[in-house]
Amino acid sequence: MAKLGVGVLGVGTMGKQHAYNLRHRIPEAQLIAVADTDMQRAKVVAAELEIEHYFNSVEALAERKDIDAIVVVTPAKFHGAAMKVCANAKKDIFCEKPFTLTVEEADEILDLTQKVGARVQVGHVRRYDPPNVRAKQRIEAGEIGDPVIFKSLARDPAPPPVGYMASGVNGMFFQDSTVHEFDLGRWIMNDEISEIHAYGAVLVFPEIAQYNDIDTALLNMKFSRGTLGAVENYMQSGYGYDVRTEIVGSKGTIITGYLQQTAEVVMTAAGSRTDVVDHFLLRFADGYLNQMRDFVQTILADHPTKVDAFDGRQAVAVAAAAERSYREGRAVEVQNRKRP
Ligand SMILES: NC(=O)c1ccc[n+]([C@@H]2O[C@H](COP(=O)([O-])OP(=O)(O)OC[C@H]3O[C@@H](n4cnc5c(N)ncnc54)[C@H](O)[C@@H]3O)[C@@H](O)[C@H]2O)c1
Repeated sequence: MAKLGVGVLGVGTMGKQHAYNLRHRIPEAQLIAVADTDMQRAKVVAAELEIEHYFNSVEALAERKDIDAIVVVTPAKFHGAAMKVCANAKKDIFCEKPFTLTVEEADEILDLTQKVGARVQVGHVRRYDPPNVRAKQRIEAGEIGDPVIFKSLARDPAPPPVGYMASGVNGMFFQDSTVHEFDLGRWIMNDEISEIHAYGAVLVFPEIAQYNDIDTALLNMKFSRGTLGAVENYMQSGYGYDVRTEIVGSKGTIITGYLQQTAEVVMTAAGSRTDVVDHFLLRFADGYLNQMRDFVQTILADHPTKVDAFDGRQAVAVAAAAERSYREGRAVEVQNRKRP
């Protein structure tokens, strides 16, 4: 069997998971090397995964002939520069969300990758979460008639360490977190978000204010064919990682998402208890594996990717419109592009 040679750039929380899946759970992939500006981290991860090569730059991955595709899992600020190196070396690319931090850079990478013929898949994992996949299939089969309202909520258990914002290398709330909802809405409604009105606030994590970021947001959206959307995003549920979506149609409704991870309920005189999903790596474990497997199989089969640079770019544009709407206190039109 021909295997896809893969290198992973950035082996922090998310990159390590992708590297693990490539090494142990996707037989069509050969994990050739990992790279991280923290060379010690790259060395440790390479040892843990029992692979030979580790480096400290994307260039080192890109110059290897046995690497066909590069998985970019650095903080968002570096996605664009890394993708440029990959594209210019004619490597196919998997890039974590958000695709880039600015619309201008997203356009540049979209155009460059199209020009050189490098395929791109963006890590919008919600599209590979089994309940969402089934919801999409049911909608396409007409089970709920025409979709009319997209509602989604995402609550993290607790804010990230303050260093996450202080570093200045990660996206702000709409870019980093709500972007999942924007992509899911576009995909599940099979439409573009055309207008957005975002409210945001600092309500539970005062340290975030000095970085001009927010911890709580409510957003209303219009899709280009006239359907509507509403999203809640919150950093501190206090109880778990709570992600739920509802698609209301002309003939029915589908709800996806769950809060209880295991099939256990403990009932005593004190009451009834269940566990709660507490981390994204647990909640979306299947999604992360399914999306990476699909990337590897798609590239090997020489097919177009299903969540491509254009999708990444459009979600970045919605996040930019949300940011502007929140700052200016008014509804803002999304700067959408037509699919090239
Ligand atoms: N899809 C999801 O559900 C999901 C979840 C978490 C993170 N992410 C995304 O994954 C990316 C990484 O997030 P994370 O939580 O793993 O961050 P992290 O900070 O845990 O890890 C980032 C790693 O990249 C390394 N790095 C920094 N700059 C680099 C560069 N220029 N070249 C190579 N390596 C570099 C760091 O040393 C670190 O090891 C972000 O884009 C984030 O939005 C996605």
